This record gives sequence, structure tokens and C-alpha cells, in this order.
Amino acid sequence: MGRLDDKVAIVTGAGGGIGGTMAKLFAEEGARVVVADAAEEAGRTTVDEIEAAGGDAAFVGVDVSDAAQVETMVRFAVDTYGGLHVLCNNAGSSPPTTAERWKLPRAPGTR
Ligand SMILES: NC(=O)c1ccc[n+]([C@@H]2O[C@H](COP(=O)([O-])OP(=O)(O)OC[C@H]3O[C@@H](n4cnc5c(N)ncnc54)[C@H](O)[C@@H]3O)[C@@H](O)[C@H]2O)c1
Repeated sequence: MGRLDDKVAIVTGAGGGIGGTMAKLFAEEGARVVVADAAEEAGRTTVDEIEAAGGDAAFVGVDVSDAAQVETMVRFAVDTYGGLHVLCNNAGSSPPTTAERWKLPRAPGTR
């Protein structure tokens, strides 16, 4: 028994690192997973990985900053899997992380 047996989950940003990992974990726990992402190729890769592991997933393209597309995403989940129980709002972009891009101008007299 998985902890998400008979549940339907949407994971936004599931084409990316954290979302992809969550989508795969949800599927391992028995959920049917809607992999929602603006990046189609990355999202379909996540679906392929879930299916290769024996899980059930479907891709839907979405820009989560567009309310109409979010509505379409939810409708896709309900139409495809008959309901919706878990919504993981993960899609987004991280700020720059390299030290160079974070570097601030030095105050006069400091090194
Ligand atoms: N990685 C970190 O250290 C970190 C830290 C704090 C917060 N976060 C947040 O966690 C989430 C996932 O991060 P990650 O490291 O997996 O990033 P990632 O770049 O690997 O994945 C993000 C995914 O979201 C998708 N996406 C971006 N904007 C979208 C939009 N408007 N509509 C639909 N899909 C969209 C991208 O296509 C991508 O597949 C992000 O919201 C990020 O801001 C990450």
C-alpha cells in the first residue's frame, strides 16, 4: 500500500529538479500524477521516468502565471483521472546563485 493510493496529484514545475523528484515520489506512493510544466520536453521526460518505474502520469503544458491556463490544468487532471486530491504548487524560478552575480559593490575603504 502506498500512502497516496487512489489519489490524483498535480505537481507544477515537475519538469525541473525538485518538482520532478516530488512527482516521482508521489507516483511511487501510488498517486496518479499530472506533470505540469511550461517546459514540455522536460515534463515529458518526467512522465517517461514515472511510467518506466511502473507509475501512472500524464503531462500538461501550463504557465502558472496565467489563471486561464491553471484552470485548464485542473480540468485536465479531473478529465484524465476523475478527480484531484493533491496540488503541489512548486513551479517557479530561483534567483541567481553564483557568487559573481550576487557580488555587491564594495563600500569605500573596505577590501
Ligand atoms: N533549488 C533551490 O535551491 C530552491 C530554493 C528555494 C526555492 N526553490 C523553489 O523551488 C521550486 C523548484 O525549484 P527547482 O530547483 O526544482 O527549479 P528548476 O528550475 O529545476 O525547475 C523549475 C521548473 O518550473 C518550471 N516553471 C518555471 N516557471 C514556470 C511557469 N510560470 N509555469 C509553469 N512552469 C514553470 C520550469 O520549466 C522548470 O521545469 C521553484 O519554485 C524555486 O523557486 C528552489
